[in-house]
Amino acid sequence: MQGESVHGMWSSRLAFILAASGSAVGLGNIWRFPYLASDNGGGAFVLIYLGCIALVGLPIMAAEILMGRHGRMSPVNTLRKLTSEGGHSKGWVVIGWIGMAAAVMILSFYSVVGGWTLHYAWLYVEQLFGGAPITDPDATFTAMLGSPGTLVFWHTVFMLLTVGVVAMGVEKGLERAVKFLMPLLFLILLGLFAYGLSTGKVGQAFEFLFTPDFSKVHGSTWLAALGQAFFSLSLGMCGIMTYGAYLPRDISIPRVAATVALTDTSVALLAGLAIFPVVFAFGIDPAGGGPGLIFTSLPLAFNDMAFGIPYAIAFFVLLAVAAWTSSISLLEPPTAFIVEKGRFSRKSAALLAAAVIWALGLVTALGFNVWASVRIFGRDLQGAVEFIASDLMLPVGGLLIAVFAAWVLRKDISRGELPDLGNGGYTAWKVLCGILAPGMVLLILYMKLAG
Ligand code: PHE
Repeated sequence: MQGESVHGMWSSRLAFILAASGSAVGLGNIWRFPYLASDNGGGAFVLIYLGCIALVGLPIMAAEILMGRHGRMSPVNTLRKLTSEGGHSKGWVVIGWIGMAAAVMILSFYSVVGGWTLHYAWLYVEQLFGGAPITDPDATFTAMLGSPGTLVFWHTVFMLLTVGVVAMGVEKGLERAVKFLMPLLFLILLGLFAYGLSTGKVGQAFEFLFTPDFSKVHGSTWLAALGQAFFSLSLGMCGIMTYGAYLPRDISIPRVAATVALTDTSVALLAGLAIFPVVFAFGIDPAGGGPGLIFTSLPLAFNDMAFGIPYAIAFFVLLAVAAWTSSISLLEPPTAFIVEKGRFSRKSAALLAAAVIWALGLVTALGFNVWASVRIFGRDLQGAVEFIASDLMLPVGGLLIAVFAAWVLRKDISRGELPDLGNGGYTAWKVLCGILAPGMVLLILYMKLAG
């Protein structure tokens, strides 16, 4: 049996679950999910999203973990190992390259948005000490986007936090921090939900999120929901594969995958139920809120509630923490890859990768102001990078992973990594991974292309 990864190993099942949930739960749940739901008409989007999680996300998550655990290396080298062991075409290594490119692109804008949350936390700290209150959240948000200095400063801080952890190795500190902070985030969201109850608009939020109106569904709705399923579960870019490389052999892959998917989905739904009552209570039009949705709606609630300011600080700090535990999983694959080249220490490798990603992040940051008129695919620069990486590269990466795991990878390897699945369960996984998931991805990409 293969031994341990050179990069280190998770100390337990719980450690992996926390790390993988830390990767999954992030801006995707609290920032991206609500605004996509609102821009795509609500219920139907949510329903498609949930379907994608169960039918596409879960089987692919198991595939990523098992490939990683067998390969024990960064994605590119794991794929090299799997293909050479099985005598398969080297072409499949492209999975690792797509994954790494997607990770680099996602982290470049993720870090800028992570910076927004830090900036907002800071604004509320200032307010605590007599700074001007945020009375016009739209203006505050626009002012932030208009200032390259502010965006780049907080983007830099966020990248430094990320590289700090990755440089030290993941076991130290992070496992413990996540264990404590993620439940806290959950509690804060529950608190916001309780505030939402007091507005009397929870019913409307429920209706908006869970009553599908299929007349609002277009090809782009399906693609947005699929992309979000991949994005939220951190799939398709080999991050979970990398985490799987550090997973001890005796741990059940289906069980951890299900736990992570369930945690991630609960946080997204809870975030929706916490945020939409506020949106409705303050008469904000949910359609077209775009990436600014939580930043322009929640401050209204914070102004209105008792202890709103400390509460806001806690919210944005924890959101930043959630983003942080995700961003380290985006930096880990390129870092591990550079380390495996053998010429760099972990520290220099992490710094090198982070420097490149930081520079790329400037495209996003400046796209809001200096380059605000630039349009790609009819989107601003941040929207374009996000769309290409999340809605195109992740599904395509995921499709290839699914096909590889189900059709190409030697059966004794996949069967050996899923010993606790009965024969029926194993066959079901193969059907989902080999037929249903790729079929759905192809169909959805086709629908988008066909308009
Ligand atoms: N899943 C993270 C989130 O929801 C984002 C992410 C995407 C992290 C891809 C890693 C890989 O915020």
